[in-house]
Amino acid sequence: MSGSDLIGAARRARRLAHAPFSRFKVGAALEASDGTIITGCNIENATYGLTMCAERVAMFKALSDGHRHFRRIAIVADTAAPTPPCGACRQILWEFGGDLEVILASLRRETGRHRLSALMPLPFDARILR
Ligand code: THU
Repeated sequence: MSGSDLIGAARRARRLAHAPFSRFKVGAALEASDGTIITGCNIENATYGLTMCAERVAMFKALSDGHRHFRRIAIVADTAAPTPPCGACRQILWEFGGDLEVILASLRRETGRHRLSALMPLPFDARILR
């Protein structure tokens, strides 16, 4: 799958976002190493604090379906500037996805590509617990 196809999957996932409080809809599409695409959207909650970001929805769906190795994630929001993953999502993506390629896009265009290791310097992870 090309990067633009992955962005397209994230754009379609974004339409399903449940974001009545912020009205900020996000879509994510995660590519597993076998080529499977797993999507997610943000799901907000009246308590606000229980809101789940699109990236973590995609990763938890993937893990729950048995995927363990990943290549890339595309993240889409309706912003002119890049919308990068929040700190909590960076941690989860790093722990379960490793040094993913992170493709950022708006509704119109790609806005950036980064290695997760560049977005997440000096990470805390399971290696430190050993
Ligand atoms: N959000 C995501 O889903 N992913 C991000 O990378 C940034 C923020 C969501 C959480 C909340 O529903 C809304 O965007 C505003 O923060």
